[in-house]
Amino acid sequence: MLKSKDLLGLQYLSAEEISEILEGAVAAKERLKDKNKCSYDLKGKTLVTLFYENSTRTRTSFELAGKYSGANEVNISVATSSVQKGETLVDTGRTLDSLKVDFIAIRHPMAGAPKLLAENVKASVINGGDGMHEHPTQALLDMFTLKEHYGKIAGLKVAILGDIKHSRVALSNLFGLKKLGAEVYMYAPGTMIPKEMDKLGAHIAKSREEAIDGADAVMGLRIQLERMNGGLFPSLGEYAKFYGVNDGLLKYAKPGAVVLHPGPVNRGVELTPEVIDGNSSLINEQVTNGLAVRISVLKLLAAYRENNL
Ligand code: CP
Repeated sequence: MLKSKDLLGLQYLSAEEISEILEGAVAAKERLKDKNKCSYDLKGKTLVTLFYENSTRTRTSFELAGKYSGANEVNISVATSSVQKGETLVDTGRTLDSLKVDFIAIRHPMAGAPKLLAENVKASVINGGDGMHEHPTQALLDMFTLKEHYGKIAGLKVAILGDIKHSRVALSNLFGLKKLGAEVYMYAPGTMIPKEMDKLGAHIAKSREEAIDGADAVMGLRIQLERMNGGLFPSLGEYAKFYGVNDGLLKYAKPGAVVLHPGPVNRGVELTPEVIDGNSSLINEQVTNGLAVRISVLKLLAAYRENNL
């Protein structure tokens, strides 16, 4: 049973809560294999997606997770909503409460925006990514993908390479993977990795080879040009050459190691096309798993609401 009405970040969840979400996703994924992939688990409930930033995977999979579970689902297009007339986030949330919405999946450029919303609405708020802070359902689907492949997470070595400084995926994965007993190694240009990562339990590698050496999984991260002011690396070509992941580097990983990436990928920058489309890549499977994980999250939050609100 989850212990909160909201899912704001993996820093707030216990190992047991994370495991419960991953177990729920196993059942959800089984159902997705059926010809009739829909259930009535969330019949009568309403999910709103409220995205202040672009998204393909997260928003679509939240919407489909709601629809496949029998919920009513509405997307608010921020560009054409009353946000453009100056309505505040909290007032937008209270409007949704008045419309009897049960779940709000939000993405926002400001770290902490989902928490502020959650503290001011009755609906359950799910963080779909807040600034450079957390992206909990992405990390949950990454962990689900690893658990599905290896049958466990404890004891795995996961190497995360790329723009760690601007990445909410890196931070959520660090919290979640550590709680379930994995070792996390990180590597990035010095300008793109906060020094405090080691205090949170990450091993900061001095080279790509050290990060990848003996790894069970190699996770590439997108260079988040929208969140940086430039000047963090000389050029995309040099980034790819000196910091990107290619087939040659994957030879340092354990035989059979898998490659993950949250997407969208800058092809040929953080990962070469051969790595993205190669046999080790689970990138497309991650997207399917995102749907299963979000179905599980909605179902568990619905159970919390039923029992506590
Ligand atoms: N991984 C991820 O958050 O992708 P989107 O930006 O497409 O949602």
